[in-house]
Amino acid sequence: MDSIIDEIKSKLDIVEVISEYVKLTPAGVNFKSLCPFHKEKVPSFFVSPEKQIWKCFGCGKGGNIFNFIMEIEGVDFPQALRILAKKAGVSLKIKDYHFTSKRTKLLDILNEATKFYHWYLLNSKNAHEAREYLKKRGILIETIKEWKIGYAPNEWRKLYEYLTKKKFKTEDIEEAGLIVKSPDGEYYDRFRGRIIIPINDLFSNPVGLGGRILPSLEKEDVPKYINTPETQIYNKSKILFGLDKAKLEIKKRNYSILVEGYFDVISAHKAGTKNTVAISGSALTIQQVKILKRYSPNVILAFDVDPSGQASTKRGIDIALSQEMNLKVLILPEGKDPDECIRKDKKLWLLAIKESKPIMEYYFSSAFKEFDPSKISEQKRVVEELLPVISKIGNLIEQDFWLKKLSDQAKVSYEILRENLKKYIKKDEKEEEEEFPLIKKDQELEIQERFVGLLIKFPEHILSFYEELKDEFFATDKLKKIVNHLKKIYSLISLENEKISYQEFKESLIDEDLKTYVDFLTLAIEKEFPNLENKVVDKDLEFLFKRIKKDFILKKLKELEIELKTAEEEKNKEKIEEISKEVKKLTEELGKIK
Ligand code: CTP
Ligand code: MN
Repeated sequence: MDSIIDEIKSKLDIVEVISEYVKLTPAGVNFKSLCPFHKEKVPSFFVSPEKQIWKCFGCGKGGNIFNFIMEIEGVDFPQALRILAKKAGVSLKIKDYHFTSKRTKLLDILNEATKFYHWYLLNSKNAHEAREYLKKRGILIETIKEWKIGYAPNEWRKLYEYLTKKKFKTEDIEEAGLIVKSPDGEYYDRFRGRIIIPINDLFSNPVGLGGRILPSLEKEDVPKYINTPETQIYNKSKILFGLDKAKLEIKKRNYSILVEGYFDVISAHKAGTKNTVAISGSALTIQQVKILKRYSPNVILAFDVDPSGQASTKRGIDIALSQEMNLKVLILPEGKDPDECIRKDKKLWLLAIKESKPIMEYYFSSAFKEFDPSKISEQKRVVEELLPVISKIGNLIEQDFWLKKLSDQAKVSYEILRENLKKYIKKDEKEEEEEFPLIKKDQELEIQERFVGLLIKFPEHILSFYEELKDEFFATDKLKKIVNHLKKIYSLISLENEKISYQEFKESLIDEDLKTYVDFLTLAIEKEFPNLENKVVDKDLEFLFKRIKKDFILKKLKELEIELKTAEEEKNKEKIEEISKEVKKLTEELGKIK
């Protein structure tokens, strides 16, 4: 079982895997970036290609590629294993499937259901109307195959029976959101008489389904679209429809196009704008914004963003602005959605993209369209319309720019606008981000870790400390063990006048936990000094070692003080003398250090 994990690790490079999510820049032998797991302005997230680990020195999170995928995708180990196996081109064998979880079971079910509906659309006589309908919408076989579009027949249990035959449990099928229990306890298919659009995760595994009713079944009280409910694998607020197919293109073009509907995405991709994704009818969430931002901070919004429009749309825009996304707005010809526009004339769509305007410009021009500067009521109107949006801009320089512009155009003094801005900046909103409290390590431990990290990186210096170095100086078991091990190894090899590489040293530790710890210790050193020179190391080690000794002696003295008190209370003369001697000795040593 470990072998499959090792095989995957050996086939994937951590830098490549992480680069898909964050922009890494070189830092000596390592790479760094802003941490994707907490908000920060200065990069403290490091990736080591040599050690194949990552670590954020701000929030403390770290690990290997598996931990990274688990953390960033919010998945469990078995699912991370599948994701990475796919990436590495390693096929999982039956025996690896004891790495299964509820989630991987649900993924299997969704995958099977998608295949079933897709097959049904392509092959069944009963899917004739569905095929005709798609053809009318300009969706041909090629597109059907690319998006694995399907058809759920207008019958009660076709899928349920199929999945049962495939030995899936009713309970799991229900948890995947594909069947529904009727009041009399019978199960039936959730999707019936609908075109099925698989909703994939970033790795093209279907995690949910969207279903559009066939036109002939459209009725007043039947919703045009239904979707799988929230399940363990389908978290609506984290999914952007089409992102698995769009992500590389978004990175390449350095912007995304955000639309509302499934068919808008499909048409946009057909039209060559493969950097399009959809929010699928709900409001944009902070998680979606963060995911999009991994690929590019620039977004063109291709849906109705009118400031007087829906509250949910506004909220989404506020979130994007607060995340310092650059938003543009695209205006389509009257009453059309992107799909209709593209079907009418692809050129109109491409032109609209080209002419998209920064969202603030759009807001300003719509607010000032009928502005009459001679009326106070008008001044109030534009300020009330624009100030709330300006207050949401995360970048303060940009915010100030728009504030000045508003002051100019509305003829309202800048100071008054500034004062009023405060009204809209709610504290709780600003702070909603800092959900990860930064880990404050105690300084003593930090110094010890740095010392040991330096020694591991530059073992030739151990000789200067060899005699004095004692494991009791160190606060944790792990550090004690490493120090002892270092001493042992170097007493052996110094005899033969040999050097030992970092890798060899690491391998010589038996305990896996210690190996990982050693990786983190040395990464912390590399992070601080990307181009460490031997001379500096010398002085640093000396300084750190003095601190460690000093801390140790002071601690000892404190302990002795307490012992002395007890001895005095007990009037134990012998003990008092013994302790006093010890105190004197330590105090002298302390004096020598200073
Ligand atoms: N939607 C939904 N549930 C609904 C209505 C809409 O999930 N009851 C989502 C779907 O993702 C849909 C998107 O919102 O694609 C946009 O809805 P709408 O504009 O009503 O549909 P269109 O995409 O234009 O659908 P069509 O072109 O098929 O009529
Ligand atoms: Mn439409």
